[in-house]
Amino acid sequence: MQVLTDKGAMRAWSREQRRAGRRVALVPTMGSLHAGHLSLVDAARQHADVVVVSIYVNPTQFDRADDLDAYPRELDADLARLGDRVDAVFAPRDMYTRGGPAHETWVDVTALTQTLCGAARPGHFRGVTTVVSKLFHVVEPDVAVFGDKDYQQRRVIERMVRDLDLGVEIVAAPLVRDPDGLALSSRNARLSPEARADALAISRALFAARDAAGNGETDATALAAGARAVIEAAGGQVDYVEAVDEATLLATPRLDRPVVLAVAAFFGDVRLIDNIRLS
Ligand code: PAJ
Repeated sequence: MQVLTDKGAMRAWSREQRRAGRRVALVPTMGSLHAGHLSLVDAARQHADVVVVSIYVNPTQFDRADDLDAYPRELDADLARLGDRVDAVFAPRDMYTRGGPAHETWVDVTALTQTLCGAARPGHFRGVTTVVSKLFHVVEPDVAVFGDKDYQQRRVIERMVRDLDLGVEIVAAPLVRDPDGLALSSRNARLSPEARADALAISRALFAARDAAGNGETDATALAAGARAVIEAAGGQVDYVEAVDEATLLATPRLDRPVVLAVAAFFGDVRLIDNIRLS
C-alpha cells in the first residue's frame, strides 16, 4: 500500500494506473475507519482494479469549531486497519491553499441542500461538495463510493457529478450497523456507555417505522412523529426526524412513492444521523 500526502504525487500515481489500463476507485473518508468504511472499500474493489482511500478531516464542512476539534484523528491506526485491502491511501496534510489568499472558490448544490442536514448545518454541504470536487480533480477516479449512512450526502454528490459533467461513476453502498442496531459512525467513539445505550432509540424508532409501513401504514407524517417521540423519550435532542421523497429530499406526507425516514439527534454532545427506506 502506498501512502501519499502530496497532491501532485497522488495525481501522478493515479495517472500511472490509468495509463496501465487499470480502473481507479476512490473512497473519500475523514478517517477513524470502522467496518462501515471498510464495506465501501470492498464495494470499490468490485468496480475497479485499484482502490484509493482518502483520509482528510475537511475543516470547511464543519459548522462548529468544537465539533472539528473533537473529531477523532488516528492515521496510524487507520493505515493498520486498511492493511493491504487498498492500493493507495491519500492523506494530505491540507487540501486548501496555505499562506496565499484564502480559498474563495466553492461548489454549491442548491436545492438538495435546503432540507435535513443542509438546513440544520449551514454551509456543511458546500464544504463537502467543494472538497469532494478537489479530491476528484487530484485522484481523477473512474468510480467513487459513498455510503447511504449519509443519504443526503450521496444524493448531493450524484447531483454535483451530473450537473458539472464530472464523469465519475458514483456507487452507493448500504448503511452498516452494529449488531444491536446502532449505525456505525466515527462519532460513536465519543458516546459515553450510557449515551450509547440511549442512542439505540434511533435505530429502534426507524425499525418500528419501517415495520409499520410494511404492515400497511401510509401516513408518513405520523410515522415520523412516532419516531421522534421514541428518540425524545430516550433523552435524544432531535435536530430533525423527517420522511422525505428519496429523490427530491422534500418532506412527503404519504408513502405513495419511495420515501426515506431520516434522523439527526444529539445524545450527550454527539450528533448522530441515521435513516431507513420506508417503501
Ligand atoms: P466520513 O464520515 O468519514 O464517511 C466516509 C464515507 O463512509 C461516506 O461515504 C459515509 O457515508 C460512509 N460511511 C460512514 N459510516 C457508514 C456506515 N455505517 N455504513 C456505510 N457507510 C458509512 O462522509 C464523509 O466522511 C465526508 O463528508 C467526506 C465525503 C469524506 C468529505 O469530506
